[in-house]
Amino acid sequence: MKSLMEIYRYTFSYRWQAILTIIFNLLFVIFNLLSIVLLIPFLQMIFKTEEVKYVAKPVYKGITHIVEYVTNSYQYIMQEMVKDDPKSALLFVCVTVFIAFFLKSLFRYGAIWHQSQLRMAVVRDIKNKLYAKALRLPMSYYTEERKGDLMSRMNSDVGEIEIAVVSMLELVFREPFAVLTSIAGLIYISPKLTLISFILLPVSAFVISRIGKSLKRTAKAGQEQNGIVYSAIDETLGGIKVVKAFNAIRYVQANFEKINLRHQQLITKAFRKRDLSPPLNEVLGSAVMICLVWFGGVMILDGQSGLTGSKFVGFIIIFSQLLRPIQGIATSVGNLNKAQPSQDRINEILNTEETIEQQVGAIPLTTFEDSIELDHVWFRYKDEMVLQDVSFSLKRGKTIALVGESGSGKSTIADLLPRFYDVSEGVIRIDGQDIRTYQLEDLHRHIGIVSQESILFNDTVRSNIAFGMDDAPMEKIIEAAKIAHAHEFIINMENGYDSVIGERGNKLSGGQKQRLSIARAIMKNPSILILDEATSALDTESEKIVQGALDELMKDRTSLIIAHRLSTVINADEILVLSKGKIAERGTHQELLEKKGLYHNLCSLQGMQS
Ligand SMILES: Nc1ncnc2c1ncn2[C@@H]1O[C@H](COP(=O)(O)OP(=O)(O)OP(=O)(O)O)[C@@H](O)[C@H]1O
Ligand SMILES: [Mg+2]
Repeated sequence: MKSLMEIYRYTFSYRWQAILTIIFNLLFVIFNLLSIVLLIPFLQMIFKTEEVKYVAKPVYKGITHIVEYVTNSYQYIMQEMVKDDPKSALLFVCVTVFIAFFLKSLFRYGAIWHQSQLRMAVVRDIKNKLYAKALRLPMSYYTEERKGDLMSRMNSDVGEIEIAVVSMLELVFREPFAVLTSIAGLIYISPKLTLISFILLPVSAFVISRIGKSLKRTAKAGQEQNGIVYSAIDETLGGIKVVKAFNAIRYVQANFEKINLRHQQLITKAFRKRDLSPPLNEVLGSAVMICLVWFGGVMILDGQSGLTGSKFVGFIIIFSQLLRPIQGIATSVGNLNKAQPSQDRINEILNTEETIEQQVGAIPLTTFEDSIELDHVWFRYKDEMVLQDVSFSLKRGKTIALVGESGSGKSTIADLLPRFYDVSEGVIRIDGQDIRTYQLEDLHRHIGIVSQESILFNDTVRSNIAFGMDDAPMEKIIEAAKIAHAHEFIINMENGYDSVIGERGNKLSGGQKQRLSIARAIMKNPSILILDEATSALDTESEKIVQGALDELMKDRTSLIIAHRLSTVINADEILVLSKGKIAERGTHQELLEKKGLYHNLCSLQGMQS
């Protein structure tokens, strides 16, 4: 119920669009009915079989009698015209009926016009809100499954809300009105026949809804299978190298054919059910109609109830149109029900706490003067402590290297500095102040990160280097690229600095991507630099080039470098050897070698014995 209220709120977040949609929809319903009612005198005229009772010139008796007044006036004008010239009367009816049809369509279009604007605006707003939230979620939120889930929520769940908004407009404000006015029209023409038709109606509605439900089940199964088919394609084409190398083509193909066959069967079943409903609808509908024609015909033949042939035709037309809004209500209710879980799923994201939040009254961090200090830092992602009592101090202009086996917590330490995560215990200080007291943006401004995997965006080289800066001068960008040893290959690209590098930079080699990431870090000109395995994905040749770029980058900066290849950390001012989240050894390269401990072993393993 709460989420229903929320959908209602979304619907009216653009109040005027909503109100106009509703007004136009109501006008549409009125003129839809009117266009039928106006046909009745027309039929009376051409059939000529009926005694038309004479209408005296009507007098306006106030708003409560407006319907009577309008219909009587219309008949009065008609009958006066018929007296003079029946053909002009015919023309008059034709024109008025046409105007009614025209206005009905016009209002329908007006309603759709505002409605589509409204629904798309709502979709845009929700997506913007979700995206903004997604960017601010705590780092721990972004696991692979969560990412997929987030995307699906932004897509299909928002889609459900969109449909629900439309349903809300139609369900609450149009269809009930359409049903009521149609029923009023029916009663106006013949109360007795209305009663009869209402006994017939539920019978057919029941059958139709049964088919609909069964169809939905099959269609849903078909859709799920469709998803399976697509992920099979995605997975195997994504891993096509493995498929080929392992001679698994036939196996994969047979598997796919099985899945695809299942999909075919389900969808065929769904199609059959779906295609069954129009003819069935027609048979049922005509059965109801025939019954009505029987009862109506008898009433006309009896000639007691005041029902005439032309009125009866009008009755039939209105009645045949009654099913549409009734079905509309049923679908709308279904849509609103379907949207509620979607709404909940969206809210779940919007209400997720941003655990890394800036403190109220956070202080600015203008310059980095002295040191970064980890003071007895403990950290856990979930239950297990990943960092245990880590303390070190990185003085300005110095370099500290973190080495140690995989999973020892090196990257975790790197993630704590920009507050991707907050420490579980202990404190990290910059210039003596807890980093949690600084403004987040300031903190990030001072820290540059180059990680093992270069993270680039499908944009031009230029914007990737000047990432996040709006008006970076071109000379600065080129300068950064030169320092990063990237200028050479960039100008050799088709469009130079304006070349688009493809999704995640897939048009570039690993070394090129990495040099772009370094150029980006240089461009940012941070005082504190974090290099997490910046060169380990590269071959020796490009590693040399990139290492050269990194050396340039590290000049006069405070750096924390993480490396597997110990040759890159020899010159660090201090090397910390991590083991299972603890600092096991610390010292310079020489000191550590002399200790003949862990570091010495690592060096021997890598063939470094100097
Ligand atoms: N997001 C996460 N959620 C839960 N546990 C994590 C997460 N990231 C890392 N871990 C765990 O924390 C421990 C330390 O991981 P970390 O990435 O810091 O290691 P590392 O020293 O950088 O290793 P590598 O050299 O392989 O990069 C590992 O046991 C890892 O499984
Ligand atoms: Mg790591």
